[in-house]
Amino acid sequence: MSLPSASSPVVGVFDAGVGGLSVLRAIRRQLPGAGLLYVADSGHAPYGEREAAYVLERSRRISDFLRSQGARVVVIACNTATVAAIKTLRELSPDTAFVGVEPGLKPAVALSRTGRVGVVATTGTLKSEKFQALLATYRQQAEVHLQPCPGLAHAIEQGDLDSPQVRELVQRYSSPLREAGVDTVVLGCTHYPFVAPLFQAALGPGVQLVDTAEPVARQTVTQYLKMHGDLPDPAVPAPVHLYTSGDEATLRQIAAQWLDFPVTVQALPG
Ligand code: DGL
Repeated sequence: MSLPSASSPVVGVFDAGVGGLSVLRAIRRQLPGAGLLYVADSGHAPYGEREAAYVLERSRRISDFLRSQGARVVVIACNTATVAAIKTLRELSPDTAFVGVEPGLKPAVALSRTGRVGVVATTGTLKSEKFQALLATYRQQAEVHLQPCPGLAHAIEQGDLDSPQVRELVQRYSSPLREAGVDTVVLGCTHYPFVAPLFQAALGPGVQLVDTAEPVARQTVTQYLKMHGDLPDPAVPAPVHLYTSGDEATLRQIAAQWLDFPVTVQALPG
């Protein structure tokens, strides 16, 4: 049985900026009947080049906002915020299911034929203990090349996916991975799927890219079902509201280009 959409509980989603829209898109495909609230913390991005304590504090505030709007499933659509905050958020709000994202090393190692895998992510993600622990699990099974990409999320955040700056950064960060001969590359930041075609062109057609938006969306559906006991009617699409701590016009323009469903855009209160 499905719940009527009008009364369906909402799902909260957030990222340092617009990158988490790649995850929002996947959640919308798998859970069209659920109202979605998305916070782009663009006024405080990039998280990947901030101290972990700062990212934790921002994540806590945003989670409180989403919960105040009724969300009891909150998706941290940001690798950097997941490593900095998910443990504390779970402790602070045990009545809420938090779904995090992490670089897809497991599928990448399984897909690789040569055993040489690359990971592109923010500096904050790669140097975190949580990621280092994940890496330790797979180090025996594959040669893993880590490539931090400072500046890339910020450049994507400007909304022009084909700008000379975005192209130059993708080339720069792809080149060591190409030289290392990797055949699989993990997109370990939710901003990067928006420039997947540029990475593909820079790395070559033989390299497979791994993005975790779909498994994260599946996990969101599982948590929704556990939390609310039923899924909303997929035949009745529910509203999607975006909030930003940055520029509303920029988010409106990016959403119109990158998303194929209608949204409202407003300032993040507070
Ligand atoms: N999209 C975020 C991630 O997945 C990071 C963006 C940023 O550095 O602000 O890590």
